[in-house]
Amino acid sequence: MELVKLQLEAPLAVMTIDRPDCLNALNSQVYEEMIVLLRQVEAMDEIRVVILTGAGEKAFAAGADIAQMVHQDALGGRHMSDLCHRTADLLENMRQVTIAAVGGYALGGGCELTLACDLRLASENARFALPEVTLGIIPAGGGTQRLSRLIGVGRAKELIFTGDQIDAQEAYRLGLVNRVVPRAELMDACRALAEKIASRAGYAVSLAKSAINSSLDIDRKNGAEREKDLLGLAFATHDKQEGMEAFLARRAPKFQDF
Ligand code: COA
Repeated sequence: MELVKLQLEAPLAVMTIDRPDCLNALNSQVYEEMIVLLRQVEAMDEIRVVILTGAGEKAFAAGADIAQMVHQDALGGRHMSDLCHRTADLLENMRQVTIAAVGGYALGGGCELTLACDLRLASENARFALPEVTLGIIPAGGGTQRLSRLIGVGRAKELIFTGDQIDAQEAYRLGLVNRVVPRAELMDACRALAEKIASRAGYAVSLAKSAINSSLDIDRKNGAEREKDLLGLAFATHDKQEGMEAFLARRAPKFQDF
């Protein structure tokens, strides 16, 4: 791929948006390449966690490519939004856990990609914003949907209506990021977290991800029923037997299901 690089380090995969000259601005080619690569990764049993990051020291991604959008008409804009949504939906729903490693600007579409990841780790120099209204448009890669679910409607409205940037500490205070670490330690911190998650029962982790995600879309009663069903499914796995027998025998479990 030209603009998105994939590094396989089973059980982890590192996906890097690679346009540092324009702060990893997201044009349609970036999204199309990400869709292809995410589908490939989802089929890989040996990959349990995907770390998504941006090339260079300055940015995760400084948003959708304004140089491309300036030439787009209404249909082009809608097509772009559809591409953003398809990419974000893949990140959100894939069976692997996704971690955004945010080492600089995560603006607009860049911020929206982080919102679609399961977890977000930021370096101290990271900055987040949804500045679309400063350009006469609205966040449309899922930003109006996911931000309020993560940090609450009032806080999301303030960020989206002002377009203001917030720093990593403020993002942490709002619950937008899970952790803030020094820039030099960002990838190691992501890898350590990814390794820990990958050491757990893989199929159980993916069932938990699915149960949590569906809780946002269905009512509580149906969410609880789904949780019971997924637990029943977990009880059918080798890993459930192995995990519990290993605990009782005071030995490390050998998980295999995914
Ligand atoms: N789309 C296209 N190009 C972008 C871009 C974007 N979203 N963000 C940055 N770039 C380009 C700049 O045009 C510049 O290109 P050039 O070197 O050919 O002139 C290069 O990346 C570096 O950006 P620059 O603005 O010079 O860096 P800076 O450190 O002064 O400012 C930002 C960094 C992120 C504050 C600033 O680039 C910015 O505000 N970008 C747009 C953010 C935005 O509105 N995103 C939402 C889009 S919906």
